Amino acid sequence: GAAELGPYRHFMQKEIFEQPRVVGDTLEGVIGIMPELFGDEAYKVFKQIDRVLILACGTSYYAGLTAKYWIESIAKVPVSVEIASEYRYRDSVPHPDTLVVTISQSGETADTIAALKHARSLGMEHTLTICNVATSAMVRECKLAYITRAGVEVGVASTKAFTTQLAALFLLTLTLAQVNGRLSEEEETAHMKAMRHLPSAITAVLALEPQIIAWAEEFARKENALFLGRGMHYPIALEGALKLKEISYIHAEAYPAGELKHGPLALVTEEMPVVTIAPNDALIEKLKSNMQEVRARGGHLYVFADVDSRITSGEGLHVIRLPEHYGCLSPILHVVSLQLLAYHTALARGTDVDKPRNLAKSVTVE
Ligand code: G6P
Repeated sequence: GAAELGPYRHFMQKEIFEQPRVVGDTLEGVIGIMPELFGDEAYKVFKQIDRVLILACGTSYYAGLTAKYWIESIAKVPVSVEIASEYRYRDSVPHPDTLVVTISQSGETADTIAALKHARSLGMEHTLTICNVATSAMVRECKLAYITRAGVEVGVASTKAFTTQLAALFLLTLTLAQVNGRLSEEEETAHMKAMRHLPSAITAVLALEPQIIAWAEEFARKENALFLGRGMHYPIALEGALKLKEISYIHAEAYPAGELKHGPLALVTEEMPVVTIAPNDALIEKLKSNMQEVRARGGHLYVFADVDSRITSGEGLHVIRLPEHYGCLSPILHVVSLQLLAYHTALARGTDVDKPRNLAKSVTVE
């Protein structure tokens, strides 16, 4: 009802704005990295495994893809990420020393539960879930768990569940790094500090809402959009495109920016808005040349650029500046701006934001 919504028009908007608090809640009480955060047996399990297999669907799958970049770079453990409905039915090569990680907001997604059981039937016993519902089937089925504290998510399009999953997955990354002797005390202190600062960093991104509304009014008139990202922001581009298609019904696709020339460039015309995630990281110069490729074909760029990335607006190039570059945790900030873009585009198109056609909050049958 209206009372629950407070000043917001939809649950999705309310849930986007709850993110500083629920990300903080998810990390609350974490004063240092220790395996026990994931369960009593976690140390023993983490010592034993030498690879990670992540299984999930939808937005949770994109959280898993982001985690692959983190875990391989920081903990140096090989990770594969699979869509649950594919994994459960394909012939794969199991390995007993695998940490099987399921990611699920509801903990009840039929495909993800079936994929978990399939992994177990192949002899993989080390199971961990990152889940938002402590009483769910998923938590009961897994040996280890980290419960995100997003609270009840009503909007079908997942927002706060995603950012809390990312926070939990970053903790998992640091924990695996520590168990493998790859996390110095200085690094731990620096990462802990960055995590503590997340709520205020997210709040600063939420303050960009008025600028994003102006873009959304233009997007509302489009039928297609392309999202570009590189590295750990490629999964964020995928999530941004998913949000837009789910609730505004605009056809949206995401590509790793370096892959543009192998296909999607053929779609670029003046009619194609190209949303670009431009963190000020090691790939920024490469990304700028990808942006040139779009401009040269008349495509209009809408760039979310970190403040120090030296990208300035011009003809066919629109820029919204994120307040800071946030290192490893940058995906958590960039996705918030894309959630707002999808929300306001859908609002301008008058779609049923919280209950998009044909979609369900939790898919408990196959
Ligand atoms: C549905 C929801 C998505 C969600 C996906 C996986 O498709 O609409 O928002 O990401 O299921 O759900 P889960 O509860 O397993 O994270």
